[in-house]
Amino acid sequence: MKYAIVLAAGKGTRMKSSINKVMHPIADKPLIGHLVDRLKKLNVDQIDVVVGYQQDQIREYLKDSVRYSEQLEQKGTGHALLHVDSLKDKKGKTIILYGDCPLVQTETIQMMFEEGEKADLVVLSAKLEDPGVYGRIVRNSLGEIIRIVEFKDANQEQRRISEINTGIYCVDNELLFKYLPQITNHNHSQEYYLTDIVELFTNNGHKVKAVRVDDIDEVMGINDRKQLAKADAWLKERINNHWMREGVTIVDPQNTYISEDCVIGQDTTIHPNVVIKGKTTIGTNTIITSNSWLENATIGDNTKIESSKIIDSRVDNNCTVGPFAHLRMSTHVMDDNRLGNFVEFKNTIFHKNSRCAHLTYLGDCEVGEDVNIGCGVVTVNYDGKNKYRTEIKDGAFVGSNCNLIAPIVIGKNAVIAAGSTISKNVLDNDMVIERADVITKKEGGLKYKNKKKLEGDKK
Ligand code: UD1
Ligand code: CA
Repeated sequence: MKYAIVLAAGKGTRMKSSINKVMHPIADKPLIGHLVDRLKKLNVDQIDVVVGYQQDQIREYLKDSVRYSEQLEQKGTGHALLHVDSLKDKKGKTIILYGDCPLVQTETIQMMFEEGEKADLVVLSAKLEDPGVYGRIVRNSLGEIIRIVEFKDANQEQRRISEINTGIYCVDNELLFKYLPQITNHNHSQEYYLTDIVELFTNNGHKVKAVRVDDIDEVMGINDRKQLAKADAWLKERINNHWMREGVTIVDPQNTYISEDCVIGQDTTIHPNVVIKGKTTIGTNTIITSNSWLENATIGDNTKIESSKIIDSRVDNNCTVGPFAHLRMSTHVMDDNRLGNFVEFKNTIFHKNSRCAHLTYLGDCEVGEDVNIGCGVVTVNYDGKNKYRTEIKDGAFVGSNCNLIAPIVIGKNAVIAAGSTISKNVLDNDMVIERADVITKKEGGLKYKNKKKLEGDKK
């Protein structure tokens, strides 16, 4: 059996935040989300998260995708593990991760499980030019790891050791819970250090191994905002490099923000300052121009999204959208459509080959094929209390500056004359015009202007 424990009960004081440290996002996902998602990919049998400080935030995000253990008082990483009751006495290998070390890659965790087959405890270490305040790996003359010394407790000589503890372990589960209660807090911080488990294992003749990771950034711990920004930049670069290798043109990778769960097709071009969030999918040969914001969006092939915001919505193939369009709440724009500037669709289905080129709001609406929506059309879908639907059937033509007061159905091939406010259903093939009569005053314009001029001269 394979288990995982993620420690996330600590205060994270150095973040100076009312948000739990592991809930701060990098690449659009909370730190803890990255770890849990990777563990899920590895089909770990049980994932246990130790929570304490601000635990509501973590529980609300991870919901029942993991088990929780509560550590109400944070007395150290060793003390935290003692609270994982659900794993006590279980046979198998356990990966231990710290919630504030979110960049560790799936392959590295997998490698730790494999190394775990060869020893009772495996510690992932790294050699750093500047080992900072990380715990130091102490080896004997044979080069075997014998203990980990925390920076605060280390003497001058130990502080010069450049091999550090990344805080990632794979351990025999039964031995872990056998020795955890023997950890004491006789140290500088008066905390129960998990790292003391190494010495307990070696003293009792169990096999301990330290495996070194090559990419030191991958095991970066995040304790403050500076490290958060560094981790974010690292992950962003990695994600962007991945998509460029897959054949996506990213014009300015420094200023392109793609979340880890997005998929982008070949020959698609992403212009500078684009944000692609959540679970967004983009097809091939598509162009996304600057300042677009796509969140849980599905975009097809050969489509152009110009400086637009698309949230929880879908745009299919061969479409152009924008500039400055806003599509939201399960909107679905099908193939061969053109939406122009300042068009907002909310919960709207727009069938094939229709047009909506300027300044329009369609809400709770279904539009058929080959429909033309003129400039400035508004579905009046809200009476202050309830929302109502509008249906515009195939081939209809809605002139400019019309209000469609929902609930309403505009029939097939119907024509709504420009400027009309329509509150009754329109039958197939009919034309409706709603306009006040025009009063013409012969030369009235000229008279009006002259009168105004006279008034001005008097003042
Ligand atoms: C820890 C390691 C150190 C290692 C470094 C790597 C120990 C004693 N030290 O130090 O050797 O180099 O990580 O980044 O383990 N936590 C709890 N409950 C607690 C205390 C901490 O759940 O009582 C959690 C925190 O929320 C955090 C993680 O454990 O996610 C690590 O704690 P932190 O205080 O950041 O440890 P470091 O000082 O960074
Ligand atoms: Ca830390």
